[in-house]
Amino acid sequence: MGRSTIVGFCCNECAYAAADLAGSTHRTHPSNVLVVRIPCSGIVDPAWLLYSLAKGADAVFVAGCRKGECHYVDGNFKAEKRVQFVKEILEAVGIEPERVEMFFMASSEPYKFVAAAEEMASRAERLGPLERRSVERDGKKVTLARALAAIAREIRDVELPEIPGFQVPVFSEECVACGACVEACPEGALRISESDAKRRIELSARLCTGCGACVEACNELEKALTLGGVRVRELLEEWVVKVERPLVRCEVCGRPFATEGELSRAGAPRVCPSCKERLSAGAIAMGRVRR
Ligand code: FES
Repeated sequence: MGRSTIVGFCCNECAYAAADLAGSTHRTHPSNVLVVRIPCSGIVDPAWLLYSLAKGADAVFVAGCRKGECHYVDGNFKAEKRVQFVKEILEAVGIEPERVEMFFMASSEPYKFVAAAEEMASRAERLGPLERRSVERDGKKVTLARALAAIAREIRDVELPEIPGFQVPVFSEECVACGACVEACPEGALRISESDAKRRIELSARLCTGCGACVEACNELEKALTLGGVRVRELLEEWVVKVERPLVRCEVCGRPFATEGELSRAGAPRVCPSCKERLSAGAIAMGRVRR
């Protein structure tokens, strides 16, 4: 098979035993199927399935005992519902729901395990690698980040650790909020605003593709940006304030106009550009400055 990765969560009592039997009876299954042994399929959390996809799997499946034969009464029914729930979330964000599936088998049915593994491997081959970043498909933005956000909103605010492929800009204390990163972002994932004598830079983790254009732009000036992991909490909001800096007031008109960092970087006086222009025009008019 190709380079796709498939993760299979198999209940210890039947599906894992079937996989074991497949091995001991010399049946082969695709080597890109990674088996995770779990006590019962009923413990599968929908977040595990999405997390597997986010971490690099192209397809994921859950395999449990045959219906009515779960050793913990109804674990496989619960798992089936959760798999369906994840399928719906994937579909809602434009990702093929066939990337997730549920299978049922007895411990004496190794061929069923092999068939499930082959089925998922061939689906992953057919569908191709899973786009983990925002891509345009049928005029719609498709992103696994949205699926993660949806599941976190639905279940709880899961603090997922940093996810490879979901890098976003991380602002250091050195950031002077000059906005060079905002201008450089090709995705419109950063925006800048001013209110209440403060300047804010906000990030949309869902739009960010982690291209690093912002980091490059910042490197020329401040080196205050790096790329780091995103957490599900950040995906829950469309926009998250990443930087907030108070604005210095112009000594002439009193209007807030620049951050402390910007002024010290430029070695500029605390006078806003329009007052500066007015003052120099006045000075010229009074003949204090020679043209
Ligand atoms: Fe196999 Fe519950 S023990 S699904």
